[in-house]
Amino acid sequence: MPVNMQIAIDGPAGAGKSTVAQAVANRLAVPYIDTGAMYRSVTLSALQQGVSFHDEAALAAIASSLSLRFIPLDDGQRVFLDDRDATHDIRSAEVGALVSVVAAHPQVRERLVERQRLIVMENRGLVMDGRDIGTHVLPNADVKIYLTASLHMRASRRFDELAQRGYTGTLAEVAKVLRERDEADGGRKASPMRPADDAVIMDSTTLSIAEVVEMIIALCRYRSAQKGAE
Ligand code: DC
Repeated sequence: MPVNMQIAIDGPAGAGKSTVAQAVANRLAVPYIDTGAMYRSVTLSALQQGVSFHDEAALAAIASSLSLRFIPLDDGQRVFLDDRDATHDIRSAEVGALVSVVAAHPQVRERLVERQRLIVMENRGLVMDGRDIGTHVLPNADVKIYLTASLHMRASRRFDELAQRGYTGTLAEVAKVLRERDEADGGRKASPMRPADDAVIMDSTTLSIAEVVEMIIALCRYRSAQKGAE
């Protein structure tokens, strides 16, 4: 299959987007860009610098100037922030609880979307995941997926992930944070989370990661054949 396809994967937290997007990118041998990691990195940097989460101009300045690198490795992707490995720190419960506030600021979004579009221009094909990729960042993507799952399933998956890293809270607390994040991400004015009109909606509540990946690869093959026939 030609690898000049743009694949957009959106959906709420904990639906399995990153794992699925990474696996699809590996199969197609194209880069995977995790835009949530960009919003998380701005949040972590603001926390470290003591910048207020309501200071939109200061947060936007961080979004423009932050040195951010994605390094693909065999055991997943590493995120380097100002040349420090921040892969784990951007996934902390503290960052998770604050990132939606940062991501709701229009100026922060503008700066990060500019950076995302530059990455798109540098690559012939790629898989990008987030909340507004199919609706805003890549409106002409070849394949648009909106991946979702029940709140209970998403919270259980996120809880297992956090527990492995020593989290001591409860499943109910994780579910509450996810629900609040969904409400904030879907309710904000600037590019709210929603499926693009032409997205394929997949519910992963009862599907394994491998099954979701196979369905997306099949869809990519179909779209690629359509593109070739045009
Ligand atoms: O996918 P994630 O959980 O790592 O994303 C973290 C937050 O970043 C999420 O709550 C909303 C925000 N986000 C966004 O607003 N737009 C994107 N394209 C990606 C993430």
